[in-house]
Amino acid sequence: MSTSKTPIFLTGATGYIGGAVLARLLSHPSANTFDITVIVRSPEKAKILKEKFDVNAIVGTHAELDKIESLVENSHVVFHLADADDEPLIQAILNGLRKRHSKVGDLPILIHTSGTGVLTDNARGEYATDTIYSDINVDQIKSIPPTAVHRNVDLRVVDADEKGFARTHIVLPSTIYGIASHPLVKAGVSNPHSQQIPGIIRASLDRKRAGVVGKGLAWWPSVHIDDIAELYIVLFDNIISDPDKTGHGWEGFYFGENGEHHWIDISRAVGKAMVELGLTDNAEPTSFTAEELAKYWGSEEAGWFSGTNSRCRADRGRALGWKPKYTTQDMLASVKPELEALAKKQ
Ligand SMILES: NC(=O)c1ccc[n+]([C@@H]2O[C@H](COP(=O)([O-])OP(=O)(O)OC[C@H]3O[C@@H](n4cnc5c(N)ncnc54)[C@H](OP(=O)(O)O)[C@@H]3O)[C@@H](O)[C@H]2O)c1
Repeated sequence: MSTSKTPIFLTGATGYIGGAVLARLLSHPSANTFDITVIVRSPEKAKILKEKFDVNAIVGTHAELDKIESLVENSHVVFHLADADDEPLIQAILNGLRKRHSKVGDLPILIHTSGTGVLTDNARGEYATDTIYSDINVDQIKSIPPTAVHRNVDLRVVDADEKGFARTHIVLPSTIYGIASHPLVKAGVSNPHSQQIPGIIRASLDRKRAGVVGKGLAWWPSVHIDDIAELYIVLFDNIISDPDKTGHGWEGFYFGENGEHHWIDISRAVGKAMVELGLTDNAEPTSFTAEELAKYWGSEEAGWFSGTNSRCRADRGRALGWKPKYTTQDMLASVKPELEALAKKQ
């Protein structure tokens, strides 16, 4: 049996998802069999990763496609955790996997990050949908239009699996929540904050009143940062121990959710927390105006994202043994500490 370590390449080590997954790989029972390489923009963070965590941290950006391609070529497993939408970046990763397959002869593994944004509609907060996607319903997953959010990248990933030069797996997190508190956050390397709920909170703090897109009637799922990081690890462990039994390609979509909410529930939690902290005197959310959507999300259309429906069931991950612990109640309870932390930074 070979005693060489498994070469792993990971993007997004300084990010919210990437940091949480890297922290788990570093404390994995088989961590001493991993040879982990990451690419980060900050030379200071690269130094901490090398000196404190024994991670081979390369300084570089995602625009350095040749560098990415060769780092991937040297890796048996790639965790792409930084960006669900960068087409040149995923192409460089896939080129590296193809080269590895033809030169080394192994079947490299890609664990890519997409998101349940791929399921969104144009509800603008005005209605709830009945359509619920299951990741074990392959025909339903195939029916998602190529124009959907993240889909341009996801389709390239599946294509690589079909061509046979890599085994590909796509994790699709929903609204991830919770302030990450693992050792990489404590060392100042990784971002502790998510995106969607902090987006609503920052806008609400700025306008001094909780805001909501439309009536907030649409549905979204959520998942705690520790649970989604665990899903990546459960998937990875299954791939390593029994690759043939672990769904890949079209059978390799893994939603990350443990319960769902209406958008108005988040905005009400924001309003309640703002009143409790003396930041407003009225807890009831009001609809964001078109101008506010543009101000806080860059454009009115971008702001509508927080009024879309996205409904799914994480059946495939649960079948692999994933057992998320945190529920929608925990998500709502996470709003106040998130708001307190973000209010201090404003
Ligand atoms: N958070 C969620 O709820 C959620 C849910 C579903 C899907 N997603 C998707 O998952 C992906 C990661 O999300 P996240 O929340 O972890 O974001 P994040 O905390 O902002 O992390 C992004 C990571 O990418 C790195 N990065 C970005 N541009 C780069 C570049 N040009 N060169 C090198 N590194 C670069 C960042 O490095 P720096 O530290 O140098 O900036 C950081 O490590 C995104 O595509 C997001 O849409 C997120």
